[in-house]
Amino acid sequence: MTQLIDTFGRVHRDIRVSLTDRCNLRCTYCMPHDFAAWMPSDELLTTDELMRILSIGIELGIDEVRLTGGEPLLRPDIVDIVARINALPNPPKLSLTTNGLRLAALAQPLKDAGLERVNVSLDTLSPQRFKEMTFRDRFDDVLKGLKAARDADLTPIKINTVLMPGVNDDEAVALVKWSLDEGFRLRFIEQMPLDAGGVWDRKTMVTADDIFHSLNPVFSLSPVPTRGSAPAEEFYINGGPETVGIIASVTRPFCGACDRLRLTADGQLRSCLFATKEMDLRGVLRDEAMSDDQKTAEIEMRFGKTVLSKLPGHGINDPSFIQPDRPMSAIGG
Ligand code: 5AD
Ligand code: SF4
Repeated sequence: MTQLIDTFGRVHRDIRVSLTDRCNLRCTYCMPHDFAAWMPSDELLTTDELMRILSIGIELGIDEVRLTGGEPLLRPDIVDIVARINALPNPPKLSLTTNGLRLAALAQPLKDAGLERVNVSLDTLSPQRFKEMTFRDRFDDVLKGLKAARDADLTPIKINTVLMPGVNDDEAVALVKWSLDEGFRLRFIEQMPLDAGGVWDRKTMVTADDIFHSLNPVFSLSPVPTRGSAPAEEFYINGGPETVGIIASVTRPFCGACDRLRLTADGQLRSCLFATKEMDLRGVLRDEAMSDDQKTAEIEMRFGKTVLSKLPGHGINDPSFIQPDRPMSAIGG
């Protein structure tokens, strides 16, 4: 088996796959509430095209797939997609990141189709704040979705939380306590410059250190030793076994251990959230002049090229940093 090794020796085994750029929330750090620049549906990969790309990726050493969006549960055939990924030769580990709104209905069917676990985004415990932060009055649906995920044993359930200054940064302790009570694993994610509306501000962002210092007086936090390629720094809470994670994407980047690739919903392969170039895989699959074997060979080559083009780091902290021209919802979280 050929492996996807970049010029810095990083072996790529993980792919984040965006299934749609659409979303039923409008989180302010992700997209403006009146965002309308959606991808045309004929530009989205079909499920057959996606399976073809994933089976080639698996041949090249990918063994972990995370389904994302936008909101992946808006994809009408999401349960079928999960079942088909599980039916591929050498099926990868499979998880999904969702805002939870449709989980109440889908958790059990997804589990039955072979999904292992979910990450659910939740930034506040206040229904009113939820409405202000997402422009939708759907807090209760997230709670119902989380309960359904727990009942369906899509565990461990991880909660992703982004803290924003003056908006919800006073909830760090309450969110940790709530997650402990509910049996969820909370991870705080530093806000990254990925929104379509340009709201990110380095000077006011809530940093990993800020988060640690607001939790530290209340909980005893001790670092969990093994991190591997996982982005979260994990801490035992009051001696463990429960943990809380802090993902310091901006202030302590973990690019040196990154083993991830990203596939956008419109079939573009990226080496990083912040890559400025993409490789078109959809175009290869739809090229009528190519035979099936030629397409496979070309896609393999494009996987290899994408990995070789990967930079050592995202450079958010360099003066020359440029924000990608697509928002997180279009790239896949
Ligand atoms: N910075 C940090 N996290 C973000 N997410 C979406 N946009 C941003 C951003 N600009 C989070 C979502 C979701 C995860 C996939 O990424 O809250 O939990
Ligand atoms: Fe939707 Fe996720 Fe973006 Fe929120 S962060 S608007 S849930 S895609």
